[in-house]
This record gives sequence, structure tokens and C-alpha cells, in this order.
Amino acid sequence: MNWKEIKIAYREYASVDELPDNWKELVLKAREAAKNAYAPYSNFHVGAALQLAGGRIVTGNNQENAAYPVGLCAERTALFYANANYPDEEVEIIAVTATNSNGRVGDPVKPCGGCRQALLEVENRYKKPITIILDGSNAIYVLDGVDSLLPLNFRPQALTS
Ligand code: THU
Repeated sequence: MNWKEIKIAYREYASVDELPDNWKELVLKAREAAKNAYAPYSNFHVGAALQLAGGRIVTGNNQENAAYPVGLCAERTALFYANANYPDEEVEIIAVTATNSNGRVGDPVKPCGGCRQALLEVENRYKKPITIILDGSNAIYVLDGVDSLLPLNFRPQALTS
């Protein structure tokens, strides 16, 4: 038996004002997008903002349904919209934020497992790591790619090798 270890690394910032300008803009867009979430069941309003190659910004938010599994997370709403409308523009950065009934979450919001897999697909599609910015009122995390969110992941190469 060999003991194996995977380490992940991320940057932690104290507030949005410490971020480079384009990251800050994206977080602010995500915060705006969260206001349009349709989340009457959870009251958890999530916003996501993507920066595409060329500079376009696409946003999304969570869309819930009385039949709970039918709803969609903010990250996938934004990713699928971007891929549906601008398939030639690589997704370079995603910022995610969330509020609950107490306001912005303290700990940075973390994408669910399904959204991690969807982000991985987009990374594989464009062969470019996606910078991931996770917003919270106590800290902001920045990760360099989906490997840091989803280690030991399933990739399409596994189907043939
Ligand atoms: N949600 C997101 O939109 N993104 C996440 O990263 C976590 C969860 C949504 C799904 C659901 O509408 C609500 O938050 C509560 O789980």
C-alpha cells in the first residue's frame, strides 16, 4: 500500500477591494445577478458571473422549482447560457456569490458537486483552466482551475484509455 496525497491551493482575500479590477468587477456582477435569483423555496440567492475570452460577461442565478430537482444552480445557468449563445468564446473566469436571509454568506459559497462536474466539462471543452472566485463576506477565495475544486475527477479521456 502507498499513501497518496492530493493538495489543493487557493488564494484568500479579505474583501473585494483587494482583488484585481477585472476580478472585482466580476464579483460585483455576480452580486447583482444574485438579486434576480428565483429561490422561493430555499431563500438562498446565488449569483454567478462568467468572463468569456474577448471580455464579454455573462451572468446567471439559481432558478428553483416546486419539484425541487427540476431547478438549476446559478453556475450552470450561467455556463449553459454562455455555451448556448457564445460557443466560440472560452469561459475564462467564474465568480460565485450567495445571500441567505441574513445577507451575504460569511464563508465563501462553494459550488455543488454537479456544478463542479459541469465546470470541468467546460474546462475540457476549451482546454483552458477556469479561474474560480468564491465570494463571502468573511473572505474571498480564488482557485486556479477545477482540479482544485474537484480532485480525482472523471474526465472524458477515461472513456478511451
Ligand atoms: N445553489 C446554487 O445555485 N449554487 C451553488 O453553488 C449551491 C446551491 C442553489 C441551488 C438551490 O436553488 C439553492 O442554492 C439551495 O441549495
